[in-house]
Amino acid sequence: MTSENNNNASSKVYYKMTHFDFLKKFKFLKPQEPTPGVLGCFFFFLSLIFCLFVLDYRVVRTLHGYSLLMSWFKFSTGSESAKVGFLEVGGGDCDIFEGNWVWDENYPLYQAQDCSFLDVGFRCTQNGRPDQFYTKWRWQPTHCNLPRFDAKVMLEKLRDKRLVFVGDSIGRNQWESLLCMLSSAIPNKTSIYEVNGNPITKHSGSLIFKFKDYNCTVEYYRAPFLVPQGRAPSGAHENVKMTLKLDQMDWSSAEWKGADLLVFNTGHWWNYEKTIRGGCYFQEGAEIKMEMSVENAFRRAVETLRDWISREVNLSKTHLIFRTYAPVHFRGGDWKTGGSCHLETMPDLSKSSISSETYTEFKTVVNGLSRHLRTRNVDLLNVTSMTSQRKDGHSSLYYLGPKVGLASLHRQDCSHWCLPGVPDTWNELLYVVFLKREISRGRHLAKPSRSRA
Ligand SMILES: *[C@@H]1O[C@H](CO)[C@@H](O)[C@H](O)[C@H]1NC(C)=O
Ligand SMILES: *[C@@H]1O[C@H](CO)[C@@H](O)[C@H](O)[C@H]1NC(C)=O
Ligand SMILES: *[C@@H]1O[C@H](CO)[C@@H](O)[C@H](O)[C@H]1NC(C)=O
Ligand SMILES: *[C@@H]1O[C@H](CO)[C@@H](O)[C@H](O)[C@H]1NC(C)=O
Repeated sequence: MTSENNNNASSKVYYKMTHFDFLKKFKFLKPQEPTPGVLGCFFFFLSLIFCLFVLDYRVVRTLHGYSLLMSWFKFSTGSESAKVGFLEVGGGDCDIFEGNWVWDENYPLYQAQDCSFLDVGFRCTQNGRPDQFYTKWRWQPTHCNLPRFDAKVMLEKLRDKRLVFVGDSIGRNQWESLLCMLSSAIPNKTSIYEVNGNPITKHSGSLIFKFKDYNCTVEYYRAPFLVPQGRAPSGAHENVKMTLKLDQMDWSSAEWKGADLLVFNTGHWWNYEKTIRGGCYFQEGAEIKMEMSVENAFRRAVETLRDWISREVNLSKTHLIFRTYAPVHFRGGDWKTGGSCHLETMPDLSKSSISSETYTEFKTVVNGLSRHLRTRNVDLLNVTSMTSQRKDGHSSLYYLGPKVGLASLHRQDCSHWCLPGVPDTWNELLYVVFLKREISRGRHLAKPSRSRA
């Protein structure tokens, strides 16, 4: 990405936020050679508008009401009010993954210091990140409006149910985001607890949080490849330290297959670095495929997932969602060679194209699961494209904890996400996709979900 692109994107933001086009309306007051009278008039109007704006802004902040000036400045949501709500009649065909990031002062949905379910690595503000712009972007679909996330509605829908996340640490990132979003509606935080008493720490196979008032659990199972990784069979070539068994599902699958809402992700471990380079080869049956490429192995694993869904998952009960690949944003290297993203404070608001590696990850899943994606109760959380615009949302230097301080410039994290942040948006989309299925199953909402307008 060139700095020209960068400037382009940030000037767009500036444009969106301050709306110079409004001032352009006063151009007629500025002839070739301005007379003092006209100039004075111009500045008088300018200060009048400014005062009105400040006043109006304060009123809006206190009243949360509709504001003429705000919509005049297109600062808030006025221009979107004409769109149909995604959950309303006629909203069903809307592609909620096509849209734009818009600045919204009502975000974030929670504060990190109010949520005890966050790994230190995601608490960017507490770890020293100076800007909070990345918490203020809302996803706005082009052809419809999303209802605002309502934790009580979601918890009510999850009553007596299990919501399970399975995948890599980016899935964990999303799971922790949802724990914070849901727990914000529960005043008594001690009524939310890990069923085995385990703390949130980085290296644990699974964690199961129970929301006692709703008798529901929100669970995470670490399975970065979705298929099991194990020691090399005896007699294997000496280069082979481990294998991935491409024709089986992860050992923990017996525990998740009965979930009511099952959210998968994978991708960040399917590369040469994290497999073959470290002596982890691919195995089918008893045979180790020394020549198999990572791309082919990934395709085989997705086929295994596809067949497992057909064979083992009761789709009358389980709503299955696959969250697509979340792009990384290392610039000038990768995580090992000094790639960085710590200077990014604005999204890429021009329609960004995604890299070929990212596209391959995306396509492998979409093609592999296409049979299921046409049937009911299986959904794609198609976040790849929208997320590729969010180079500003990563943990970068701010993942080591407040005591340690900033990470070295050469050891940045441009794959995980600050919380609150981008994964909250994935969960807002998860929320509406979940509610949509619940409605189509004829389980209507207790109260009508209000559309943002
Ligand atoms: C995913 O979303 C992108 C962006 O809206 C869109 O171009 C693409 O067709 C979608 N893919 C699928 C499989 O839904
Ligand atoms: C809690 O939910 C589980 C299903 O996850 C159900 O089997 C159990 O009966 C529920 N308990 C109560 C007290 O409703
Ligand atoms: C909060 O929840 C805990 C665990 O369920 C319970 O023991 C405690 O009485 C609750 N406190 C209040 C004030 O309701
Ligand atoms: C699948 O789930 C539905 C709804 O919970 C249940 O009625 C049905 O018996 C289940 N089917 C099997 C084969 O377990």
